[in-house]
Amino acid sequence: MSILIKNGTIVTATDQYVGDVFIEGEKITTIGTALAMPADRVIDATGKYVLPGGIDVHTHMDMPFGGTTSADDFESGTIAAAFGGTTTIVDFAIQYRGERLHDAFEAWSKKAAGKAAIDYGFHMIITELSDQVEEEMDAMVRQGVSSFKLFMAYPGVFMLDDASIFRAMLRTGKNGGTICMHAENGGVIDVLVKKALAEGKTAPKYHALTRPARAEGEAAHRAIALAEIADVPVYIVHLSAAEALEQVTEARDRGLPAFAETCPQYLFLSEDNYDEPGFEGSKYVMSPPLRKKETQDRLWRGLAYNDLQAIATDHCPFCMKEKHLGDGDFSKIPNGAPGVETRMSLVYDGGVRTGRISMNRFVELTSTSPAKIFGMFPKKGTIAPGSDADIVIFDPEKTTTLSAKTHHMKVDYNPYEGRQVTGVTETVLSRGKVIVDAGKFTGRAGAGAFLKRSARSI
Ligand code: URP
Ligand code: ZN
Ligand code: ZN
Repeated sequence: MSILIKNGTIVTATDQYVGDVFIEGEKITTIGTALAMPADRVIDATGKYVLPGGIDVHTHMDMPFGGTTSADDFESGTIAAAFGGTTTIVDFAIQYRGERLHDAFEAWSKKAAGKAAIDYGFHMIITELSDQVEEEMDAMVRQGVSSFKLFMAYPGVFMLDDASIFRAMLRTGKNGGTICMHAENGGVIDVLVKKALAEGKTAPKYHALTRPARAEGEAAHRAIALAEIADVPVYIVHLSAAEALEQVTEARDRGLPAFAETCPQYLFLSEDNYDEPGFEGSKYVMSPPLRKKETQDRLWRGLAYNDLQAIATDHCPFCMKEKHLGDGDFSKIPNGAPGVETRMSLVYDGGVRTGRISMNRFVELTSTSPAKIFGMFPKKGTIAPGSDADIVIFDPEKTTTLSAKTHHMKVDYNPYEGRQVTGVTETVLSRGKVIVDAGKFTGRAGAGAFLKRSARSI
């Protein structure tokens, strides 16, 4: 099968020009102007952007959490991702206490195989460290799971103590992997949560009030300090607080391999959302929580000046029925919100159209830079001969309204309900196959392949 995409505005992290892209099988083979080779299908992209497929390096499909499971499995979640212009996800496999990393890898491989409609990789969440697990970490990197998420929060569930964190970092410093850190001080938060509940403060908004920005800043500082001693790259996931951003900026200024992502929810929503009537505030119960509106400008500046290197979603949706597990006790509301489908349009509309970031930076933040940090580049993350033909044809003029009524995520609310965005994914190719075409899913559940990621390339 060959496809010729004609007359689109091709944008990579560094270039922008009108041209044609020729695809044979799964790969991009030729880029030029006025290409005339015969093709099985010709797509006219006049007036549209031709972008490398979005890469979302932070999703939780089919993830057990707080007595329930996230609403999207690998099938519904990756189809929704495709509709939103994302062609690769990196999901988090979880090693539960008492388990081997290989068990977690097998469990998540079973969840994804036969279901994922786009390519996927795994990070490995480590919740218990032993000599055997340390050895397995090396094996994981060899088999393409080259990043480990550690938690400084959720005591008794996911949280590791500093000694275990440091051991995992030392090992990763040697095996070529990268540490992903959930940076919030779990001990401090636990005290604040217990105090709030004892005082009868049970509503969703207390989730945010018991997770102060400084507790994120402190943990980011500690994560970076430990990583510096261990000589390992550290990537702070779902960074939400200016206090944490300052720590990343300072570390990068000193030349340390410190990286961070933020997420659309921290750029477009704020703590004010917790004041929505009734139990609506539970829609935004996620960790870290939404912050003050003023923080949004700080995050945008961080994105523009490369103090933040990626925008991922932390897609972890729960239906309202599940959110109601926390009726009368905010600490029992499952943490997380949907976002895998809305990322590209939100960031284009709120970032590029407002002049906060350039078009090249948009591509860099949503595709190229995560591909480089997590060992997928140049197979993924760019439009170049030899790269996978993961391509998004994006209409920069089309406007749509985000809504649970029309989205494809299997969750009964949309955190951006009613928000109009200009900039919409029109056509999506995954390894040379058209999987979204004129508003219809034309791919196949199970067509997505496990992505063996390399050890770090930056
Ligand atoms: O609230 C969140 N972020 N839920 C998903 C788990 C995590 O910490 O990423
Ligand atoms: Zn986390
Ligand atoms: Zn997450």
